[in-house]
Amino acid sequence: MNYQIKNLLEYTNAYDKSVSNPEQFWEEIANGFQWKKKWDKTLDWNFDTPKLEWFRNGKLNLTENIFEKLLPTHRDKTAIIWEPNDPDAPSIHLSYGELYIETCKFANAMKAQGVQKGDRVIIYMPMVPEATVAMLACARIGAIHSVVFAGFSAAALADRIDDCQAKMVLTSDGNFRGNKQIQVKAVVDEALSKTDSVEKVIVLKRTGEDVMMHSGRDIWWDEAIAGQSEVNQAEEMDSEDLLFILYTSGSTGKPKGVVHTTAGYMLYTYYSFINVFQYQEDDVYWCTADIGWITGHSYIVYGPLLAGATTLMFEGVPTYPHPGRFWEIVEKYKVNQFYTAPTAIRALQVHGTEPVEKFDLSSLSVIGSVGEPINEEAWHWYHEHIGKGKCPLVDTWWQTETGGIMIAPLAGITPNKPAHASLPLPGVQPVIVDAEGNELIGNNVEGNLCIKFPWPSMIRTTYGDHQRCKDTYFSTYKGMYFTGDGVKRDHDGYLRILGRVDDVINVSGHRMGTAEVENAIDEHPEVVESAVVGYPHEIKGQGIYAFAICDSSEKSNEQLAEEIKQLVRKIIGPIAKPEHVQVVSGLPKTRSGKIMRRILRKVASRDLSNMGDISTLLNPEVVDEIIKGAGLY
Ligand code: WT7
Repeated sequence: MNYQIKNLLEYTNAYDKSVSNPEQFWEEIANGFQWKKKWDKTLDWNFDTPKLEWFRNGKLNLTENIFEKLLPTHRDKTAIIWEPNDPDAPSIHLSYGELYIETCKFANAMKAQGVQKGDRVIIYMPMVPEATVAMLACARIGAIHSVVFAGFSAAALADRIDDCQAKMVLTSDGNFRGNKQIQVKAVVDEALSKTDSVEKVIVLKRTGEDVMMHSGRDIWWDEAIAGQSEVNQAEEMDSEDLLFILYTSGSTGKPKGVVHTTAGYMLYTYYSFINVFQYQEDDVYWCTADIGWITGHSYIVYGPLLAGATTLMFEGVPTYPHPGRFWEIVEKYKVNQFYTAPTAIRALQVHGTEPVEKFDLSSLSVIGSVGEPINEEAWHWYHEHIGKGKCPLVDTWWQTETGGIMIAPLAGITPNKPAHASLPLPGVQPVIVDAEGNELIGNNVEGNLCIKFPWPSMIRTTYGDHQRCKDTYFSTYKGMYFTGDGVKRDHDGYLRILGRVDDVINVSGHRMGTAEVENAIDEHPEVVESAVVGYPHEIKGQGIYAFAICDSSEKSNEQLAEEIKQLVRKIIGPIAKPEHVQVVSGLPKTRSGKIMRRILRKVASRDLSNMGDISTLLNPEVVDEIIKGAGLY
């Protein structure tokens, strides 16, 4: 595979070159792709505006770099292996040739339903091959996809549809997840009753349950593709044309639409995939994420397919029908690279090693982790029991905004230190800054993680609100992209990510803004004010703890707490449901009215050491009451 780094010296050389001459470094990689027309300026950037352009005026279609480029050599190679939720149901193997045909047919079907270049298409689907086909078909015709995780509520889906003014929704009748069957179409119907931009809905039959089909609006997937041609002329896209929007939470209440564009994202997901995982031509690669998150976009779909890899897609959950399901699948398909989240590792660790030992994991050569800091205990368990002590464990740090893996070991090449993401990929220039933005040089330093130079797959804007992109990422520290994470460079020079330094909670590797959860809680008629914080949670990494001031004479605190939990679940989705809701009579505030979250975090973490001086608060007496209410006395 071209551009695959093979040893430490090659890494050092590539890294040095990527810093001393980044444009030339990326041009060489870009030259390996198919262009309809080459670019005339490699990079134009300014972190103040921000303005970020890679390969200006280049013309291409990303899917031509999967199909037209690879079909001559990969037509019969398996592109996607699909393992269904039910282990006894048949799996599917789709070759590159077959995936091409499915993509073209669906691309033509979408066009026939009125979708044009530049239109936004929401994908709200289960983990089935058609979801990948849907993404690729959008890219083929130049429609901008926005995948929404199918566990989000109708209200959350409606917000996203509305924000990007989507013209089409792609969905299914229902989803299978473990022993549950989820009525997806009904959620879409509810969301569409609150929005008015969507003209057509294409519905895949998955569970076969009865659903309402709106005449004139809804059409079955099978009917939409019936009779469609198996060829489709790929739309000519500019390097900087939008490829997709993916919504993610931040410090404010409203999710933001992170925008990724065509050429840079293509290059970087390909390059990072082959280098971090060291994929070899006959390997079977498996990433357990959902396509609703960036990990699924970059490392189930785009990176692997651009590299001509065999990528496994799993519809189900790790513990169904038994806690050895992941390992059963590894054995079944002889998986070589396995990429999952620390929360999944911790959840499986609870079941001990027996479910692991039943299966042959000898095919594994690389294991990976993503989504949150991996604690040392989980790292060692994963390394020893899954990787059998012989597989490099790549702890990959990155974000929805970065598009691809930024800091991680290259499997077997750069050092593997427990709980350390270690070293940046070529092309990535991380810096550690103090509160004033001064760069902290040398080892044994800790501060905030920024990136000081553009890389091809970085966020371009937040959809419909460029100012927000500037304010969130480029204003905290002048001239740098601010990640929102804390980091330490240890005595060996390896980076260790310490977690978020802003009001973002990382629940099971998924990002939740405290303000977003608070907004949902505040919808409860009896809630006067609320504050949400994260606290350490054994399995989820962080759990959500909510404090709420309620005005109710009839209901007990238990009843209010339960109602609030259910409300958040309904408004955002099950992943946002607070673990704890504590009804309080007041929230600790500074004299200027700012909620002292530090104190609330202490209570939620059940750690009352170093509470600091609370006497300067506006209402110090509530602290005692909150501590008592939490059962800490
Ligand atoms: C945040 C990004 C990147 C795909 C999944 C999450 C945290 C991610 C690591 C890691 C420590 C990590 C960071 C980051 N994070 N990977 N290997 N070690 N922290 O994407 O929802 O955009 O969240 O996840 O806090 O900022 P996301």
